[in-house]
Order: sequence, then C-alpha cells, then structure tokens
Amino acid sequence: SILRSVQSAVSRSITRRGYATEPVPERKVAILGAAGGIGQPLSLLMKLNPLVSTLSLYDIAGTPGVAADVSHINSRSQVTGYAGEDELGKALEGADVVIIPAGVPRKPGMTRDDLFNINAGIVKSLATAISKYCPHALVNMISNPVNSTVPIAAEVFKKAGTYDEKRLFGVTTLDVVRAKTFYAGKANVPVAEVNVPVIGGHAGVTILPLFSQASPQANLDDDVIKALTARTQDGGTEVVTAKAGKGSATLSMAYAGAIFADACLKGLNGVPDVVECSYVQSNLIAELPFFASKVRIGKNGVEEILGLGSLSDFEKQGLENLKSELKSSIEKGIKFASQ
Ligand code: NAD
Ligand code: LMR
Repeated sequence: SILRSVQSAVSRSITRRGYATEPVPERKVAILGAAGGIGQPLSLLMKLNPLVSTLSLYDIAGTPGVAADVSHINSRSQVTGYAGEDELGKALEGADVVIIPAGVPRKPGMTRDDLFNINAGIVKSLATAISKYCPHALVNMISNPVNSTVPIAAEVFKKAGTYDEKRLFGVTTLDVVRAKTFYAGKANVPVAEVNVPVIGGHAGVTILPLFSQASPQANLDDDVIKALTARTQDGGTEVVTAKAGKGSATLSMAYAGAIFADACLKGLNGVPDVVECSYVQSNLIAELPFFASKVRIGKNGVEEILGLGSLSDFEKQGLENLKSELKSSIEKGIKFASQ
C-alpha cells in the first residue's frame, strides 16, 4: 500500500545506518511540546522509527488528540499522550531520549534571542523536571535560542546535581540539513551523497558551515561559497519570512530532529561511528564553553568531540566573527539559570 511504502521509505531514511544487533532494545522517547508545529510532525516521524518502543507525547494541552491519532499507525512503539504539568513526571519517567521543541517560535522581524524571555523559563522548568524524573536521559534541545537554552539546561542540571555534559545536546541538525541541500543545488551533485559540517552555534553568524570540507568536493567560486554561507545562516529567517507571521520552520525541523534523535538512539544501542554535528559542552574554543561541532555519539552520549579540521581563510574569519555573539548568548543563559 502507499502507506506502507511511505512508512518504510521514511524509516529507511532515518535508520539508514542500520541496526547494531537483534533484538532491538526497548527505548522510551519523550517529546516535550509534542502538540506544536514541530512537535506533531516530529511525533509522526518518531512513531515511524523502529528503534522506539515507547513514545511519550507531552504538552501543556492537546497531546491526547495527537497521541490518539499517531497511535493508530501500525509501527512498533506504544504511544501515550500527557497533558499539563501534573502529568509531566509520568511522561518523563524512564525516558532514554527527551526531545524538547517546547516554546514560542519567531515572527518576522524577530531574532531568536527575542524569544529568550518566554522560552528561558519554559526550558528551565522542563530541565528541572528532567533532573527529577529521568536524569540519565539524552536531552535534545530544540527550543530557541539554542545558544542560550542549552547553557540554561546545563545550569539547572548542575544545581540539581545531575549534570552530565555528555548527555546534553543542542540540536543544530537543521543547519546541516540546509547546508547539504543548498550545497547540492550549487555543486550539482546528488544531494543524498552530500556531507557538510556546520560548527559554532544556532543563530545568524554563529552558524558556520564548513563548505571547504564538503563532500563530494566541487570547486565552487568564493562568491558562491559566500552566498551559500549566508543562505545557511539565514535559512531560519527565510522560512519565518515566507510563513509571514505563522511561525518558523516546523516540517524541516521535525525531519532534522528525527535524524538527530535517531542518531542518539543508535549511539545508545551501541551502533559504531555515529557522528552528527551538535551544540554541546566543549573545549575546542577556549572562551566558548558550548560550541557546535562534529561529535561521536555512543552508549553514554557524547563519546568524542571531533576537531574542527582545517578551515579556509573565509571560515577562519567566520569563526572569529561568531565568538562575541555566542559568548554573550552563553553568558546570558548561565546568568538567567543561576538567578
Ligand atoms: P509552536 O508554538 O507551534 O509549538 C510549541 C509548543 O510548545 C506548543 O504546543 C506549546 O503548547 C508548547 N509549550 C509551551 N510551553 C510549554 C511547556 N511549559 N511545556 C511543554 N510544552 C510547552 O512552536 P514550534 O514552531 O513548534 O517551535 C518550537 C520551538 O522550536 C521554538 O522555540 C522555535 O524557535 C524552535 N525551533 C528550533 C529550531 C532549531 O533548529 N533548533 C528549528 C525550528 C524551531
Ligand atoms: C530555524 O533555524 O529554522 C529555527 O531556529 C527557527 C528560527 O527561528 O529560525
């Protein structure tokens, strides 16, 4: 049937690195903000992932409907919806991976930092609950501004005595997804074969795609690389503008979030060589305690932070240009959480 072929195509594409061993272990994935623009399609994609055995859908409202709907799909996981703070504990208990797309999205004219005042508080309360109910889960932070919400979660976990820097990830996969798509278009290479690391953070100039390391290689002119870089940095704004007040990227973000959560599940399950870019606690750049780069994900979360590799002069300049903004976003998050 059409349904079956779509389902197997999606699960093939999000599990294309294959399984470690049979049988596949039991894994609980919780999505916080599951009734939202990202949350709903992300719930669908995670329902199609055969590595998930329990899918827990939490939001302040609306999750019973999303859960009832998604639960009818004939794939492995058992789905439960939880609505309202009273049910947050049950939603989180026993979770191996917690994905957080809870919070308000941008409207035209806003920066991601303009979301700080609302989303910082949401992230703080959700991180507090995680430290209580599933302190060992791998946390996939999607809520913006990611450059600050990841440091906020780290501070909350530190205060609770549960912080493990290997288990906290800022999801920057959408930047990689965009860089791959835009590069394939200009380099005229098959998009499925493209790889592009993206480092730094997740906002404007802090997003730094390393097209000099892109594969397959293509000899693109400097002005093309410049334009590709700018388009990757402004990819979120491109969608916000096109949606004209109806929010930001949701569908491509759900795809990116599903890819990243799948990588976390594979890492937990012992699949070797699972490498994705992510914004994590890092010592690659002395003055930036959080930084996105390629990381190897394993049974305990971050197994290894890979080096940046060699950068072109243009990328070296980009790295210099991002430092002050990223540093102040990190400090803003830490300051908020320690108040
Ligand atoms: P949305 O408004 O459509 O959905 C957000 C959901 O969060 C809503 O259902 C809302 O009820 C829920 N929510 C609010 N407070 C909550 C709480 N305390 N607990 C649980 N759920 C809560 O927004 P969206 O388009 O899905 O975007 C969500 C967030 O993701 C935004 O902050 C957006 O900027 C961010 N985002 C990040 C990336 C990225 O690449 N990291 C990409 C796109 C969007
Ligand atoms: C994105 O990159 O699409 C997200 O961070 C949402 C936004 O505000 O741009």
